Amino acid sequence: MGNCYLLRTPPLKTPSRCGLKKGIHSMFSCNDDPTLLFLSERFHPSARHSRLQLARPLKNVPSHRSVTSVLCIVLLTLVASAFIDRATAADKSSKRRVRLGDPSLTAGIPGTGPLTGAQLSKWINNPANHVPLDFKLPLGLAAGKGDVQGVKSNPLTRAKIELGRQLFFDKRLSSDNTISCASCHQPGHGYAAATRFGVGVDGQTGDVNSPVAYNRILSSRQFWDGRAASLEDQAVGPIAAPIEMGNTHEQAVATVKANDGYKKQFDAIYPNEGVTIDNIGKSIATFERTLVTAPSPFDFAEALKPYANYDAADFEEMKSDDPKEFARYTRLKAAAAANPMSESARRGRDLFFSDRANCSACHVGANLTDESFHNIGIGMDASIPKMGRFTVTKDPKDKGAFKTPTVRNVASSAPYMHDGSLATLEDVVEHYAIGGTPNPWLSKDIVKLNLSPQDKADLVAFMKACSGPLPRVNSERLPQ
Ligand code: HEC
Ligand code: HEC
Repeated sequence: MGNCYLLRTPPLKTPSRCGLKKGIHSMFSCNDDPTLLFLSERFHPSARHSRLQLARPLKNVPSHRSVTSVLCIVLLTLVASAFIDRATAADKSSKRRVRLGDPSLTAGIPGTGPLTGAQLSKWINNPANHVPLDFKLPLGLAAGKGDVQGVKSNPLTRAKIELGRQLFFDKRLSSDNTISCASCHQPGHGYAAATRFGVGVDGQTGDVNSPVAYNRILSSRQFWDGRAASLEDQAVGPIAAPIEMGNTHEQAVATVKANDGYKKQFDAIYPNEGVTIDNIGKSIATFERTLVTAPSPFDFAEALKPYANYDAADFEEMKSDDPKEFARYTRLKAAAAANPMSESARRGRDLFFSDRANCSACHVGANLTDESFHNIGIGMDASIPKMGRFTVTKDPKDKGAFKTPTVRNVASSAPYMHDGSLATLEDVVEHYAIGGTPNPWLSKDIVKLNLSPQDKADLVAFMKACSGPLPRVNSERLPQ
């Protein structure tokens, strides 16, 4: 047996073939592959049925032995909680659960203008800013909570997020004070850049497109070829890349150390270590993990799907039996009405997840990516095609394979693909329709698709409906 999850379900409309009755609102589900389970539960077109099937093992529990152990646990918990209650009362308020995307995390230290020493001291001396945050993901991404990366070894705290925010926007990390992370990952352009290739110090350009820097909390390997094992490793790369920020790590550390405001924060957040290149990486990665997409029209529509067959009587019953569930439903319905999916987007959704278009062979899961590498026939007609993942693994099957990007908010981050060769989402769909550029290593999942002009428009409409707001982020307030 693998991990177990508690699945929330809305009350079932009728007693089902699987033997579950009306009024069962939540159930445990166990599986050796928790990711798969969660995703199929969330995204499988027949989610209602797969959910019922997954719930079957319920019948086998509790056995008499587990009843005894449950009783023991309950007793122990009662005794322990009496102690814990008193101990935690003090910092309860700072431990309250926060939803990622909450603007209080990224809006910067309150005030305007450059951050003064006094403001930073006050901020850093507040113990609440150093408490590891208990967080949840927004609707949509929340289905991927089992895939959250990096926060155990590098917990999120308000102080670290704020420090990372400052570093992300600070051009002083570059050799000539002209380039910050945000120069190529612009909040106003979907945390990517409008140029085909990243533009670094002295106007130098690289040869790959800037990918988006949000929803990284669900992603481990970074870069188009996955050569960085973590977000922390990734974050320090651009500082020393000659065509990006053009600096050295030593010089960047020296610059940060020489700034009193920064030094104060590093000393408080990383006691005994202070300013190091690794701690710069940890801080920036922490900030990036708070950049998450809030629910899109697609997410609201998905969340309402289980209620599609309810009639007025069912809702009346829910209202009296489970007022909390009813309140949630009412909120979702209002949100879906304010953020509607067009008919075209709905058709596009079904097509995207169908065998016919096959997009979800790779764009799957909460962040609509399998976090894996594929050759989809991009740039393969260049005189010297880029080898992508092969350069890391040296495995011939990885030739020309690049990391699947998220489709969330993709409408904001043109141009597309690792080489920035496709200018619009229409071009992207056209690329898939013709089956990519033929090459010896083309993924078997990339084949010529039989798509009508309406199908193509529907796929584009669906991808646009996968856009939700990103958190409000202050880009101005940096240490003096
Ligand atoms: C000159 C433009 C430029 C600058 C400056 C820059 N980046 Fe990037 N970033 C890129 C490009 C281009 C890539 C893709 C490189 C590759 O895959 O080989 C990238 C990749 C990334 C990725 C990987 C995303 C993924 O899906 O794998 C992250 C995260 C990221 N950058 C964050 C940062 C941070 C943090 C900084 C500042 C320390 C920064 N970038 C500075 C252009 C830039
Ligand atoms: C075999 C896996 C696979 C399939 C199937 C697939 N994709 Fe992709 N997708 C990728 C990979 C990998 C990339 C990046 C490729 C590159 O840059 O070389 C990508 C890139 C994209 C991009 C560009 C994102 C960006 O930020 O640059 C979009 C949009 C997209 N795919 C949509 C779709 C749609 C729509 C379909 C179905 C018609 C589809 N994909 C089918 C793997 C796949």
